[in-house]
Amino acid sequence: MPHVADVDTVVFDAYGTLFDIEDENWAPADVVRTMRRKQLEYTWLLSLMGDYQDFPTLTRRAIEYAKALYDEYNVDVENVMRRLVHLQAFPDVEIGLKRLGDGRRLAILSNGHPDDLEQLCIHAGLRARFEWLISAHEVRIYKPAPAVYRLALERTGTPRDRLLFVSANSWDVAGAGASGLRAAWVNRTGDPPQPVGGEPEVVVRDLEELAAELE
Ligand code: 2OP
Repeated sequence: MPHVADVDTVVFDAYGTLFDIEDENWAPADVVRTMRRKQLEYTWLLSLMGDYQDFPTLTRRAIEYAKALYDEYNVDVENVMRRLVHLQAFPDVEIGLKRLGDGRRLAILSNGHPDDLEQLCIHAGLRARFEWLISAHEVRIYKPAPAVYRLALERTGTPRDRLLFVSANSWDVAGAGASGLRAAWVNRTGDPPQPVGGEPEVVVRDLEELAAELE
């Protein structure tokens, strides 16, 4: 009997969960981390303000912020923008998706722009694995707003108790759980638990470990 049972549809976060946004040689680690922190901060700020700008716009603003903060690195904004749609998948993703997709339907639910999600999946050779690429752009608000997690249920037509949302971002797991979704946390970096929001049903280190929990 699997530990995580009765899952028909598995829905994945994109950045940091499937695609490695940090472990690349395309910009110094300080720049990448600052860019990522600011990118997320801008999505949360706008969502709380009831405003919206698309993800590539916020990403560009975040890179510009990191460039200004670390002017010694002379960051090439266009180059970073290009690299961000050509990220590598983590090493466990290909085999993990194959196992998780055996008898289940797979989707992505991301703050990323629909065009960028397509490009990322095609570049990583993963497009055929996913039946749906679902973007927060459809509802013009970002995760962890409940309206985004509801999209996963609506678009896949999966009953709430048969869908598992998977993210490596603890804030995203907390948001999904708070919205009433079943959630798995892929704790790739050994982070302490998130003290607010919903709790994950299972915590694993990577997608292969998650597949084992469902088999
Ligand atoms: C996502 O892919 C931003 O990682 C977050 O939605």
